[in-house]
Amino acid sequence: MSVIKNPALASSGNQKIRWVKDFMPTLTKIGIELAKKQTFAGFKIGMSIHMEAKTAYLATILSNAGASVFITGCNPLSTQDDIAAALATNTNDIEVYAIHGVDEETYRRHLKAVLLHQPDLIIDDGGDLLEAYCDLPESKRWPVIGGCEETTTGVLRLRQRQKQKTLPFPMIDINDARCKHYYDNRYGTGQSVLEAIMHATNTLIAGKNVVIAGYGYCGRGIAMRAHGLGAKVIVCEIDPAKALEAHHDGFIVMKMEKAAPIGDYFITATGCKDVITSAHFNKMHNNAFLANAGHFDVEINLKQLRSISKSTSERRNGVTGYHLSYNHTLNVLAEGRLVNLAAGDGHPAEIMDMSFSLQTLGLKYLIDHHGTLSRKVYNLPRDIDDSVAWSKLDALGIKIDQLTVDQYSYYSPN
Ligand SMILES: NC(=O)c1ccc[n+]([C@@H]2O[C@H](COP(=O)([O-])OP(=O)(O)OC[C@H]3O[C@@H](n4cnc5c(N)ncnc54)[C@H](O)[C@@H]3O)[C@@H](O)[C@H]2O)c1
Repeated sequence: MSVIKNPALASSGNQKIRWVKDFMPTLTKIGIELAKKQTFAGFKIGMSIHMEAKTAYLATILSNAGASVFITGCNPLSTQDDIAAALATNTNDIEVYAIHGVDEETYRRHLKAVLLHQPDLIIDDGGDLLEAYCDLPESKRWPVIGGCEETTTGVLRLRQRQKQKTLPFPMIDINDARCKHYYDNRYGTGQSVLEAIMHATNTLIAGKNVVIAGYGYCGRGIAMRAHGLGAKVIVCEIDPAKALEAHHDGFIVMKMEKAAPIGDYFITATGCKDVITSAHFNKMHNNAFLANAGHFDVEINLKQLRSISKSTSERRNGVTGYHLSYNHTLNVLAEGRLVNLAAGDGHPAEIMDMSFSLQTLGLKYLIDHHGTLSRKVYNLPRDIDDSVAWSKLDALGIKIDQLTVDQYSYYSPN
């Protein structure tokens, strides 16, 4: 274990975990089934994922289904110490390696600590656990059945490895399941990013120019919610079709260099690096806010911002002021790390209900198909994806039409 253990923290963490459980009916239902069958009995599961209440509930579901779970964070700032303390205290079957705000070296040490248990299955969010496995010398590796990857950036890294033929075991791309990116990336990120920005800054969005870099699933969600709050939304893109989509959705589309002098808030959601650099900082007005919603803290080039700043100061919890030589201050939220988790509680529980149901069923798929999968990135089968949507509709009490046999033969592609 590497965690701050303290009864008061654990009690606060448990309260949060009990709260999210009430809003995660699909995962609860799956959990009850798997616990009855002890589906993961004898399996060790290594997890690197944002250490907050919803993930703690996921770890508990896996442990109740028989698994030994070894868990660390996937971003030092998104770890909540009370949640880590609660998980570490509740059961002997979950080992936790996570402390809020640890330095890079400790973060890497925690990933290695999870791997020292030689997990059979992994859950990764962003790909750091898989990369740590790949960094091990061949002699220190063991056969991993496979794993599930949560996010767009992690899947990108997996696909790069697949192309180079260096993927060490089968991985399931959870992100591209419809019940993941339609809801998590769009509605989850959309709501939680704005919520975190408002909470961290206590400022008014209405009437402001909100510049969003990237009009993918996350960017679209953020744009939709910023618009709903009364912002004038400006979109910066590199993909011509996405740029057109933003235009037809009613947003202003321009280059970042043009947006820089007029933006009040800048939010990156691209998965790319150096989206905002010193080519833009110098054009921004005093007290502009910069926040990142992409997985890694590479979208806003803070090294360059630091190099042109006279000094920095902590202006509010989670807001760093970069004081430029000409008496302008730029306010960076959550050190440029993904703002909704580093300065907030992340996605709403109802959203993670679906993402984590997919993760759980993805792990089950891996053990059910052990020995038949190769070192490739697999999409989650559509029937599993659909089963989560059906379960969610059921929990919401929503009924929908179903094709008749006649309609099916007319409408079906085969
Ligand atoms: N904050 C969260 O909770 C959360 C949730 C899900 C995903 N993510 C992360 O957010 C990022 C985006 O995910 P997504 O699912 O929206 O991906 P996506 O692929 O759907 O969209 C990314 C968009 O950014 C655009 N883009 C790329 N480079 C750009 C650049 N330099 N300037 C402007 N636009 C650029 C692409 O053309 C694309 O349209 C990823 O890093 C992903 O892992 C974060």
